[in-house]
Amino acid sequence: MRDRAAGFRAEMQARRTVRDFSPRPLPSGVLEDCLAAACSAPSGDNLQPWRFTVVAGPDLRRRIREAAEAAERKFYESAATRKWRDDLAPLGTAPSKPFLETAPALVAVFVETHRDLPGGGRAANPHALESACIALGILFAALHHAGLAALCYTPSPARFLRTLLGRPENERPLCLVAAGFPADGVTVPDIRRKPHDEVILRR
Ligand SMILES: Cc1cc2nc3c(=O)[nH]c(=O)nc-3n(C[C@H](O)[C@H](O)[C@H](O)COP(=O)(O)O)c2cc1C
Repeated sequence: MRDRAAGFRAEMQARRTVRDFSPRPLPSGVLEDCLAAACSAPSGDNLQPWRFTVVAGPDLRRRIREAAEAAERKFYESAATRKWRDDLAPLGTAPSKPFLETAPALVAVFVETHRDLPGGGRAANPHALESACIALGILFAALHHAGLAALCYTPSPARFLRTLLGRPENERPLCLVAAGFPADGVTVPDIRRKPHDEVILRR
């Protein structure tokens, strides 16, 4: 057990967000296994309120990129506060998001916030966001474990995803996950994780 825990720790500590992907396709079935692993997440009332939309069509990917980059340009030009821009600076991000077209896999993640009741009417899904975020965490762990690089991208606002992907209004877009092999020579920002005694507390 100790070996397994320590091995998993070391494996996860080697994960880094990658923003440039090689066009090399994924081995068949790998993305499907990672998504299936994500769907094993615990969820409030077992409602499994996550929805993973695999976006494969080049035309749709281009339209997602155009909409995301338009939102990004607006954000960088006006909405972004100085503090937010300072926080983003070390990451080297910019309004251009080529990975939306170049990453071999792109998955739009939605949270089903409400559900239709059998007898009519609607109910809020309890802890929908928490549940979907746990599934998302498992997806990132599974992709990394499989040997793939990934990026969690959160366009803001993200409403366009619902329209472009034809999802109902009881689903809230959470993020886009780009995954694949890293591009040749890719680098990652020189950033640090917080010391564990700052984030793991004991009382
Ligand atoms: C909820 C969430 C939203 C994120 N949104 C973005 C994003 O919109 N664009 C981006 O380039 N990276 C995004 N990231 C990636 C983070 O910048 C990255 O995880 C963080 O800088 C730590 O780096 P690491 O993943 O290499 O450890 C996001 C990550 C999370 C968990």
